[in-house]
Amino acid sequence: MTTAQRIDLNNITVYVEEGLDAVGERAAEVFCAALDEAPTASFGFATGSTPVCMYQDLIKRYNAGTLDMSGIKAFNLDEYYPIQKTNDQSYEYFMSTELFNHVNVDPANRDIPNGEAADPEAECARYEAAVRATDNYKLQILGIGENGHIGFNEPTDTFPAKTNHVDLTASTIEANARFFDSIDDVPTQALTMGVGTIMQAEKILLIATGPKKSQIIADCLVGGITPHVAGSALQLHRDVTVVLDADAAQELLARL
Ligand code: GLP
Repeated sequence: MTTAQRIDLNNITVYVEEGLDAVGERAAEVFCAALDEAPTASFGFATGSTPVCMYQDLIKRYNAGTLDMSGIKAFNLDEYYPIQKTNDQSYEYFMSTELFNHVNVDPANRDIPNGEAADPEAECARYEAAVRATDNYKLQILGIGENGHIGFNEPTDTFPAKTNHVDLTASTIEANARFFDSIDDVPTQALTMGVGTIMQAEKILLIATGPKKSQIIADCLVGGITPHVAGSALQLHRDVTVVLDADAAQELLARL
């Protein structure tokens, strides 16, 4: 595919694409290149509205017979807590309906923090151990919160190293209320990979679209490195690809 614009920032390659279909195609291309290199590796998936364009492109490739995900182990960044897996706002449900029901990831090889766990701290420890036990954590897909969170690592004073049980900030609850019937239905807690967990991945693929992400993308990629903007830790990762649409790229391009 042709690229609208490519920017190289040390360890971070940024693609700016025209429109959601092109963002989805570029992100899927990055994913598939990693999958070709390591067809039996672990891949970390993300939820939110942003990666949907990429999942749609992956489903197209699967239907065309050019994508085989049968060998991978699939992890997920985070899950609300507490939440039933059958709740249509759970990330478990999201991943099934948006991707996994349409491709050939083995259900036995899918793992996501369990929002139904009786003991959330024990579940975080189990999940962290599962991610760290994988011998090849090839690629982690990320979206970004308007406050810079990756996974649900909210602004705080230290970078969370491991999978942790967090309180969501008022701004995240407000941002995610659009998916629920009412803001009172949004869970106030979550289980999320820590920033340290995410940084274990060999490659990171961050996707952001729309004008609401413009400021925070610039802060993450060329601002100061601070746990108050969890995504700024990506500046310390060795292999990051960022796929943006023109709206999300605006402030970054202005600051370069
Ligand atoms: C949620 C998820 C994040 C996601 C963010 C952005 O809070 N925990 O992983 O990146 O929302 O969501 P969206 O892509 O819908 O803007």
